[in-house]
Amino acid sequence: MTKQNITGDSKAIVTNQDGVHEKLEQIVQKHLTHAFEKPIQAHTKSVFDAINERVNAWQGPVILDACCGVGQSTRLIAKQNPEALVIGIDKSANRLERNVEEHFPEDIQGVDNFILARADLNDFYRLVAEANWPIAKHNILYPNPWPKAKHIQRRWHGAAVFPSIIRIGDEIELRSNWRVYLEEFLIAAKLTGRDGEITEISLTEDQTPITPFEAKFFASGQKCWLLKIH
Ligand SMILES: C[S@@+](CC[C@H](N)C(=O)[O-])C[C@H]1O[C@@H](n2cnc3c(N)ncnc32)[C@H](O)[C@@H]1O
Repeated sequence: MTKQNITGDSKAIVTNQDGVHEKLEQIVQKHLTHAFEKPIQAHTKSVFDAINERVNAWQGPVILDACCGVGQSTRLIAKQNPEALVIGIDKSANRLERNVEEHFPEDIQGVDNFILARADLNDFYRLVAEANWPIAKHNILYPNPWPKAKHIQRRWHGAAVFPSIIRIGDEIELRSNWRVYLEEFLIAAKLTGRDGEITEISLTEDQTPITPFEAKFFASGQKCWLLKIH
C-alpha cells in the first residue's frame, strides 16, 4: 500500500524509570483536583471555532486523531469510516504540511471526510471537553514518550490537561513502543473511573502500520503496544 522510505534505525526507549513513575498518582490527583487555568492561545481558539461549526453541523460520528503528525492515520481512519468526520490535530505545521498523499494516492483518493489542523492540544483539549463534542473515538498514536523520570509532567497523563483528555471519547486508543507509558496512562484513567486493557500490536503480512512512527518501530524490530480505554 505505502511507498514510504521506512528505515529500521529507530532507537529503543531509554529511561531511568524502573517501572511506573513513583509520583504518578500524586501528580494525577493534583491535576484532578486543581483547575488548569492557563489562558487559551488565540490561534488555537480560532482553529477550534472553525472546526466547532463543522462538528455541530455533522450528522454522523466524530473521531479525534490527536498528535496526528503528517496525518496518515487521520486519512486512513477517514477512509475506513466514511460516515465519520475525522479530525487530526498536531502542533507541528511542518509535519501537517508534508505531502503524504503522493506516497499512497490509491488509498485516499476521494476521501474528504477529514480535517487536519494545527493547534496546541494543551488548549484544544480543554475547548473540546468544555464544548462536549460527541467524540466516538479518540486516538493518541505514538505520543512523545518523554522517558526521563523528571519529564513525567510532559506525558499526557502527567499533564495539567489530563482531566480534559480523559473526558474525551467513548473509546480512547493509545499506541506506544514504551509499555510503561500505557501502564501509567491506564493507572491515571482508573483514578477517574475509566478502565481499559493493554495488548501487544501484531501486524499480519497484509496489514500495514497506521502511522509513520509505527512503521519505523516495526522496521526496527521494536514491540508496539495498544491501550484501549472504554
Ligand atoms: C512521536 S510523534 C507521532 C506522530 C504520529 N502520530 C505518528 O505516529 O507518526 C508525536 C506528535 O505529537 C505532536 N505533539 C506533541 N505535543 C503536542 C501538543 N501539545 N499539541 C499538538 N501536537 C503535539 C508532535 O508535533 C508530533 O507530531
